[in-house]
Amino acid sequence: MTPSYPDRRTFAIISHPDAGKTTLTEKLLLFGGAIHLAGEVKARGANRRARSDWMKIEQQRGISVTSSVMTFEREGITFNLLDTPGHEDFSEDTYRTLTAVDSAVMVIDAAKGIEPQTRKLFEVCRLRSVPIITFINKVDREGRDPFELMDEVADMLALDVTPMSWPAGMGGQFEGVYDLKAHTLMQPTGDSRAFEGKVTQLSGLDDPKLADVLSADALKRLHDETELAVGGYDAFDPVAYRNGDQTPVYFGSALKEFGVGELIDALAKYAPPPRTQPAEPLPIGPEHEGVTGFIFKVQANMDPNHRDRIAFMRLCSGRFKRGMKLTPSGSGKPIAVHSPILFFAQNRELADEAFPGDIIGIPNHGTLRVGDTLTEGEAIRFTGLPNFAPEILRRVALIDFTKTKQLRKALDDMAEEGVTQVFYPEIGSNWIIGVVGQLQLEVLLSRLDAEYKVAAKLEPSPWDTARWISGDEAAMKAFAAINQSSLAKDRDGNLVYMAKSAWDVGYVQERNPDITFSATRER
Ligand code: G4P
Repeated sequence: MTPSYPDRRTFAIISHPDAGKTTLTEKLLLFGGAIHLAGEVKARGANRRARSDWMKIEQQRGISVTSSVMTFEREGITFNLLDTPGHEDFSEDTYRTLTAVDSAVMVIDAAKGIEPQTRKLFEVCRLRSVPIITFINKVDREGRDPFELMDEVADMLALDVTPMSWPAGMGGQFEGVYDLKAHTLMQPTGDSRAFEGKVTQLSGLDDPKLADVLSADALKRLHDETELAVGGYDAFDPVAYRNGDQTPVYFGSALKEFGVGELIDALAKYAPPPRTQPAEPLPIGPEHEGVTGFIFKVQANMDPNHRDRIAFMRLCSGRFKRGMKLTPSGSGKPIAVHSPILFFAQNRELADEAFPGDIIGIPNHGTLRVGDTLTEGEAIRFTGLPNFAPEILRRVALIDFTKTKQLRKALDDMAEEGVTQVFYPEIGSNWIIGVVGQLQLEVLLSRLDAEYKVAAKLEPSPWDTARWISGDEAAMKAFAAINQSSLAKDRDGNLVYMAKSAWDVGYVQERNPDITFSATRER
């Protein structure tokens, strides 16, 4: 069978740190046959980390800073899993990655429910109506009442919930997970209490066979709870799910492998194939003939020995072939893509062809930038890749003054990659960098030193936040005349108002109704 886009499922996992994203990723790859031994995701991570100074931060903090792509296949479906950093400091990168997926899996810790980071990421998904499958993880441990968890998702996220499976007890009382659609009961085996394939097929919840495999207590509880759950929540509605209005909820344990196969099956069966992407002048569907795509991430120096820079492109339409000439919207100069890379769990491979939904890595020397649209020459531009107003601003001070040129190059490079934003004030020569989270500052200094050999320090900035401004020419001119000392340009030459506080933004905004102040800017 010829592969094509309806077989693609491009998705991300969103969660709060520690909910189990890494474990689930590993198990998905294991079930998908992409890796053969549990533990390889972490091992691979450790290997990669050892390779660059930048990664030391990852190691020290025990968090994952970079996002990557992992592709695996199962039963004719190609899954592209886009890994997103869980740490809140890297939300900008995460947000952009979420623009490149067609659906998401939301992992929730059964003991904790919805946590701040889950909620933030969910809001990004909602902006784009990304359909979400919920996986309530760690049912093998003491967790909260399943109804409480379901209701919390419904109330806090204003999302309809529908149960697809139900736990027969949790923690010490955990006796298995009941699949409400297939009517199967998956049960733990042996000392590890992991899922090793013990499945009982039943005709339904009233099948007397259930009494043979569950304790009396667990049986009664399962009966009572599922009766309430099935009656109390709406039935699964594939259309509502795909519109992002309803989330099917699965209970499981990534660590003990409960519910992982069911989750992959759900992605295969219900998650949308490549969706139509917002673009100008018109949205682009996967059936569009010409090859189109956009860059959602650029990663430089993945390997310090090869100063390589890889742009990650999400293919939106057409059939990509190796060697093809594509024109990026940024530079406008066509490039021949001779060495596109596909990312598998354990290795990278040259891609001879790729389909909508696929992510290809394009090695380049700075010609491709985040937000670039690539086409075979059509005048199309994908929209909706946001830049966020920085929450922390710092002045960059050189320790060695002879390195001005290198510093400018480094800041431009990193702004391009989305590691930081850079602002060049209209008056004075104090370059200001802006980040969304503290950790980005450490990454910046560490990379300046390791990759660009620039010793610099960060000093307090006179400003606290920034807003992109726009308005008609006369209004902008009048505004600039009075506020020049608070104006700067970003890397692309857009005017930015530098504010001393959020209050200051509000005040200036109120007094200048003709000017639009924006906390995000589309690239
Ligand atoms: P994250 O990527 O979302 O941050 O979470 P990660 O998978 O690293 O999981 C966080 C911790 O939760 C890990 O324990 C992991 O083993 C545990 N965990 C994940 N899924 C389950 C589950 O289904 N059941 C149980 N009981 N635990 C689970 P850790 O002790 O912090 O790390 P490790 O030493 O085990 O690697």
